[in-house]
Amino acid sequence: MSWSPSSLLVTGGAGFIGSNFIRWVMGREAEVEVVTLDALTYAGHRVSLDDLPDPSRHTFVEGDVADADLVERLLREHDVDLVVHFAAESHVDRSIHGPAAFVHANVEGTFGVLEAARRAWAGRSDVRLHHISTDEVYGSLGPEDPAFTETTPYDPSSPYSATKAASDHLVRAYGRTYGLPVSITNCSNNYGPYQLPEKLIPLTIRRALAGAPVPIYGDGQQVRDWLYVEDHCEAIWRVATEAPPGSTYNVGGDNQPTNLDLVRTLCGILDDRRPEGAPHDRHLTFVADRPGHDRRYAMDLTAIGRDLGWHPRRSLADGLAETVDWYLRHGDWVDAVAEGGDLAGWMATQYEAPRSA
Ligand code: NAD
Ligand code: TYD
Repeated sequence: MSWSPSSLLVTGGAGFIGSNFIRWVMGREAEVEVVTLDALTYAGHRVSLDDLPDPSRHTFVEGDVADADLVERLLREHDVDLVVHFAAESHVDRSIHGPAAFVHANVEGTFGVLEAARRAWAGRSDVRLHHISTDEVYGSLGPEDPAFTETTPYDPSSPYSATKAASDHLVRAYGRTYGLPVSITNCSNNYGPYQLPEKLIPLTIRRALAGAPVPIYGDGQQVRDWLYVEDHCEAIWRVATEAPPGSTYNVGGDNQPTNLDLVRTLCGILDDRRPEGAPHDRHLTFVADRPGHDRRYAMDLTAIGRDLGWHPRRSLADGLAETVDWYLRHGDWVDAVAEGGDLAGWMATQYEAPRSA
């Protein structure tokens, strides 16, 4: 199957992946109209949507996805036929300090979007609600365990991943019970332009450039799979427009560096671009581990490659170099979101105050 949505509601579109997705889809699909619904939390910034290819096709609405009446009104008023649901609290470390916000945004918020779609789209099959989820719902792998597949049992470790798991279950339940046409992608760690400077890659770039300590949790031997955000956008579009309702696909970059290797690679790129600060890896500083820290994630990408022909396009080396160059060119954006999102306050809470857990 394949269809062409004409009117999109993108929740969480002022965040990292959502803003990249809107830019990607508007650049590629000349006719689509996009409505962004975003609560503009510390993680949502209008400035991340400043450079859209055709702003006249984009409408921004500030609001909470848990407000089902608001979401229903937007679906009806804009005749939306595809919802891409990114809105969430997304940072594991913040979920350890304040889990309540995660239950609200990720569970009640997804419930709000589902209820709105059930009411506005009752009985329609020419629509789709695509839910964005994470590999973290599967829990942690041992060193020899096979990679996560779409049938790996859920076993979340953090309040973040537990609330994302809950949201995935709700989405599937609305598909089975009410016949709502839903799909889900579970993706590994994303990186690229417009990621908040509290996440590992932009945090490393910013702090190593400034000569500030770059915190490495525990022994730095945790393993993640990293996907360049634009490749994720393409995977989302493929699943939402080509896969049948009820589909779930794992998405990832097909690489598994340790955190320490990843950060050292970034420092090597910085040495090349800013030799006056070399060696940047002298700023790496081991700090206390994250409580409940998942040791290893890895994604089996067989299904999405076989069914939809999707494979990640960027190698990790190329994607990291592009990302470093983007951050070097966009210091103004980093400063704006650091100030708007009170990055200094978060850094003090996370890295300077004694750990409570
Ligand atoms: P982000 O934190 O950068 O952005 C989240 C956005 O959602 C922000 O703009 C925020 O203002 C908005 N938001 C939060 N609560 C809201 C609410 N109640 N109502 C409306 N808007 C709200 O997150 P991201 O990294 O772009 O992640 C987007 C989605 O992708 C999330 O669902 C996340 O779980 C998932 N995901 C992220 C990654 C990753 O590596 N970043 C990997 C896999 C999956
Ligand atoms: P993060 O970017 O927070 O993503 P996630 O927790 O969703 O995987 O972190 C990526 C990895 O980097 C994770 O294993 C935790 C680790 N990390 C550090 O070692 N130091 C840090 O300061 C941060 C933010 C993360």
